[in-house]
Amino acid sequence: MNITKLSVVFFSATGRTHKAAEAFVKALPLPARWIDVTAASTAEQAHTFGPEELVVFAAPVYGGRIPAQAAQRFARQKGTQTPAVLLAVFGNRDYDDALLEMQEVAQAAGFVPFACAAPVAEHSLMPGVAVGRPDEADAQKLAEFAGRVWQTLAAAPSAHALAVPAVKGNRPYKAYPSIPFKPMASKACVQCGACARACPTGAIPLDHPNQTDKTRCISCMRCVAVCPHGARGVNKLLLEAAGKVFALKFGARKEPEFFIGK
Ligand SMILES: Cc1cc2nc3c(=O)[nH]c(=O)nc-3n(C[C@H](O)[C@H](O)[C@H](O)COP(=O)(O)O)c2cc1C
Repeated sequence: MNITKLSVVFFSATGRTHKAAEAFVKALPLPARWIDVTAASTAEQAHTFGPEELVVFAAPVYGGRIPAQAAQRFARQKGTQTPAVLLAVFGNRDYDDALLEMQEVAQAAGFVPFACAAPVAEHSLMPGVAVGRPDEADAQKLAEFAGRVWQTLAAAPSAHALAVPAVKGNRPYKAYPSIPFKPMASKACVQCGACARACPTGAIPLDHPNQTDKTRCISCMRCVAVCPHGARGVNKLLLEAAGKVFALKFGARKEPEFFIGK
């Protein structure tokens, strides 16, 4: 196949998924168009892709799934037997059903997800887990994977010759857990609205950015990451305590996993 265009459709609350996707994409021989579907304001975007394009879908793993908002925004894209690479980026615990879920969404939207990976990135909620990842070794593995992806495409006469690989995961998918950490604004909040504009779920009212709608918040930590005044955060003591227990259980280095259909 002669691939003429490369696009990356990504959801990345705190930039770690983006970093892993970048390490993969920069090893491909085409310039990429980056389509960011993270903020709620970008949710309606819908693009159509042809059979000679390659689309990379990248999302973080939350509770062993991908965020529902990412799944919905990926489902709006339209493939025409378009080859796709799926990246489910996880924080060194597990990716459980996330890749399987991404495969289902991509296939229903007209894509052929012949290559799938679960890269590891620093945990965006639990402090001190997988710090600095993806690191050099991860980037090298992602680059090698990109080489194999490109060779597979070059060897296939058309997308019909590409196979979707078996990945780990179970149906029905894991129930999405309720996460007790909902960031709040402190007195340092100047109500600039940067968090409200960036929030993936519209949980922060644009006219009252010092508030949080806990029923909408998915604990993605994006508001904490984008606040220029360090004015948003979760209960530090609780998070540190939870982080210590988590790091004991899931601190040992895990390696990324890669799958290409045969
Ligand atoms: C609410 C929440 C749930 C998470 N659940 C998991 C999980 O189930 N397994 C895991 O290994 N990492 C989990 N993580 C870590 C993220 O998957 C990981 O840090 C990811 O790279 C974050 O990407 P982002 O910066 O693009 O949002 C979770 C992070 C958050 C904020």
